[in-house]
Amino acid sequence: MRRDLSAALLLSAGVALAAPFEPRLLRARNIVDEIQESYDFVVVGGGLAGLVLGARLSEDSNHTVLVLESGGTGDDLRDRIDTPGYTYYQSLWPTALNWAFQTTPQAGAGDRQLVWPRGKVLGGSSAINGLYMNRPGEIEINAWKDMLGNMDGADNWSWDSFYAALKKSETFTPPSDAVAEEGGITWTSSSHGTSGPIHMSYPGYTFPQVGQWSQAMQTVGIANSHDTYGGQNWGAYVATSAINPTNWTRSYSRSGYLDPLPPRPNYDVLANAHVTRVLFDSSSPKANLTANAVEYTRDGGQTKLTVKVNKEVILAGGTVGSPAVLLYSGVGPKDVLSAAGVPLVSELPGVGQHLQDHLSVSVQWSTDQPTAGSIYAGDGPEKNDPVFLSFVNSATGYVNATAIFGAGVSEFQNGINGQVDQFTPKASSGATVVAGYKSIYSVTANKILTSPIGQIELLLATNAAGAIRITAALQHPFSHGQIYINSSNPMDYPVIDPNYLAHPADYTILREGLKLARRLGEADPLKNSMTAETAPGPDVQSDAQWEDWLRTQIGTEFHPSSTCAMLPLAQGGVVDANLRVYGLANVRVADASVPPIVFSAHLMGSTYALAEQASSLIRGFYNGVPSTGSSGGTTGGGSGDNASDGTGSASTSRPWTFSMALVALFAVKFLL
Ligand SMILES: Cc1cc2nc3c(=O)[nH]c(=O)nc-3n(C[C@H](O)[C@H](O)[C@H](O)COP(=O)(O)OP(=O)(O)OC[C@H]3O[C@@H](n4cnc5c(N)ncnc54)[C@H](O)[C@@H]3O)c2cc1C
Ligand SMILES: *[C@@H]1O[C@H](CO)[C@@H](O)[C@H](O)[C@H]1NC(C)=O
Ligand SMILES: *[C@@H]1O[C@H](CO)[C@@H](O)[C@H](O)[C@H]1NC(C)=O
Ligand SMILES: *[C@@H]1O[C@H](CO)[C@@H](O)[C@H](O)[C@H]1NC(C)=O
Ligand SMILES: *[C@@H]1O[C@H](CO)[C@@H](O)[C@H](O)[C@H]1NC(C)=O
Ligand SMILES: *[C@@H]1O[C@H](CO)[C@@H](O)[C@H](O)[C@H]1NC(C)=O
Ligand SMILES: *[C@@H]1O[C@H](CO)[C@@H](O)[C@H](O)[C@H]1NC(C)=O
Ligand SMILES: *[C@@H]1O[C@H](CO)[C@@H](O)[C@H](O)[C@H]1NC(C)=O
Repeated sequence: MRRDLSAALLLSAGVALAAPFEPRLLRARNIVDEIQESYDFVVVGGGLAGLVLGARLSEDSNHTVLVLESGGTGDDLRDRIDTPGYTYYQSLWPTALNWAFQTTPQAGAGDRQLVWPRGKVLGGSSAINGLYMNRPGEIEINAWKDMLGNMDGADNWSWDSFYAALKKSETFTPPSDAVAEEGGITWTSSSHGTSGPIHMSYPGYTFPQVGQWSQAMQTVGIANSHDTYGGQNWGAYVATSAINPTNWTRSYSRSGYLDPLPPRPNYDVLANAHVTRVLFDSSSPKANLTANAVEYTRDGGQTKLTVKVNKEVILAGGTVGSPAVLLYSGVGPKDVLSAAGVPLVSELPGVGQHLQDHLSVSVQWSTDQPTAGSIYAGDGPEKNDPVFLSFVNSATGYVNATAIFGAGVSEFQNGINGQVDQFTPKASSGATVVAGYKSIYSVTANKILTSPIGQIELLLATNAAGAIRITAALQHPFSHGQIYINSSNPMDYPVIDPNYLAHPADYTILREGLKLARRLGEADPLKNSMTAETAPGPDVQSDAQWEDWLRTQIGTEFHPSSTCAMLPLAQGGVVDANLRVYGLANVRVADASVPPIVFSAHLMGSTYALAEQASSLIRGFYNGVPSTGSSGGTTGGGSGDNASDGTGSASTSRPWTFSMALVALFAVKFLL
């Protein structure tokens, strides 16, 4: 409150908005320990999308913005986050930075409960993920937009808008000549952004196998990618990685959208703050409930704290977290809420439904060639070399249905179209959710399957010692699952049932993809790097043998989406085209849970774009006043080399005012 007042006074006196005189501002980067009573916008989740929203919304000086993140800052493990290769060698999975969810026993996977890692830290899953940076394509994005019909705002989700948002988030740097040559890397600069907060680049170190990848793909009949970042997201290529090439560090939503910011008096980020519920104004009309506060806890649920919301709540808890917060708040399917003992606040059958995930499994060979894994295990001088440690896997390829099934595609498609009724969602369906399932199913079978879009992704992995793996991953599943709750205690994990391989088409595509992975490893010139197939091994040949094996091996490719799907309400939608939750006046969702179809891509690129677009829409709606000093603006500041150091001096173009001078004086005193 006090802070808001001082800002207002400065403004009204005609002085440029400047940092008020408060010790908390000396804590770098807007990460605070204490917060105000109320904010215009409360963002739930400081993950990939949440930190984009926080940075962009707080660019408007007359909005106050709070981000609440359940996990910690990650400062104590920053070296492990920052070093790209540590994603394998010093994985953050066993730490508190991983939610470590598990699925329910999956009948399609030999009744196993599969692990579902998710980031629990500022930066969210972008802090612990595999750094692959690619994009969905024009066909998929436009298919999403078309599913919205003539809904208000649908045009904002066309490929043209989305492509602009993809570029806005990005600064692209081509590989070094040596890496480009050894890795056989090609790129189209015009398809990339040049001044966004997230670096898309390539490792400083590579291996001959990476260079052999695209050639071997051609040997098995898969064309090289032509312009995968420009909307044609298929074919074989070496993807960009989320790496800052100036110092070979991970580029993630914290390093891109939070660290470079100067202190902003209107922006607070609170870590270790788990949101338990959104609270509603009981006097607001039943039809459009108004959220007036967010309840959270900093001590594992013992003490419930609240922060007031002046304008909106924006959920960015991710594909698991966002539906969970809605459900614990009483917004969701009636049967789920009543079974969990949560009072119904607003019935919305689609919450947690339409869950789609990529499913992966690998063929493995032994090798006598050096791999990243053998170099790391070998304890030689390279082990701690930042250039070597910048290596992450990135050779990939997206293979369409024709390349998998040949002339059999239309028969396969007809079969799928005939099976839709058998596979409609089981739990808590309701007619609208079933309609949504059918709509997604039909788009997948009749627009995606018959297009050049990949049904299978193939990936090369050289991070194990003495082994090379080629992974096949299902991209457009017909089996949809659900996330729900079975308790009224918001500290309990939600239940995750991805319903893997329930639909036989998914199993068939994945099995044929695996066969292709094997052929690829046996193809020139990649075969020269392989000594023997070690998994599943040459004994596995028949379809039945593949099936037995793959059901014991499959795991998530870590790309769940669509649990708060943007679809018409009559199709089990959760948000409309302006990202507003149906039935609520001032709650939006903006994260990987929103796109109604999972894309044929790793999901970080599309989630950055979605969050950028969401921020533009919200700022447009409120007609905010951009900060005068606009390295207040995230864009320039975040692009790396001359980013502000967060002290409010350096490259911020914020005018040097009297009160800034006071802050500086105070800073000096503090340092002493
Ligand atoms: C192991 C792994 C590897 C991956 N590899 C890649 C890859 O190589 N390339 C790629 O493109 N994508 C990859 N992904 C996927 C990508 O990281 C995610 O799709 C993306 O981060 C999703 O962004 P999001 O903002 O929706 O969710 P997240 O980034 O997960 O952020 C959600 C945030 O909300 C917080 N939160 C949740 N609930 C609450 C609550 N109740 N209160 C407060 N905070 C809450 C979480 O702690 C988290 O910080 C990977 C993911 C994982 C887990
Ligand atoms: C959203 O669409 C409207 C109408 O076409 C347009 O005026 C607006 O600029 C778009 N907003 C963004 C952020 O693209
Ligand atoms: C509820 O909000 C929606 C979207 O803002 C609006 O279209 C609708 O008219 C509102 N309904 C009521 C009853 O206020
Ligand atoms: C599928 O991929 C193959 C191999 O790259 C290509 O020849 C074919 O034209 C593609 N099919 C479609 C429908 O795009
Ligand atoms: C809720 O489901 C989880 C598994 O997802 C289970 O471990 C737990 O016991 C269930 N809780 C209740 C109250 O049924
Ligand atoms: C910011 O200022 C603009 C222009 O005066 C106004 O339209 C808008 O409502 C203000 N927004 C907030 C959040 O105060
Ligand atoms: C610093 O940022 C400015 C504005 O964004 C840009 O013009 C300039 O080239 C940058 N300088 C360096 C060294 O990158
Ligand atoms: C890497 O460089 C960026 C600037 O490009 C800087 O902000 C960041 O702190 C550096 N990271 C490390 C670990 O040095």
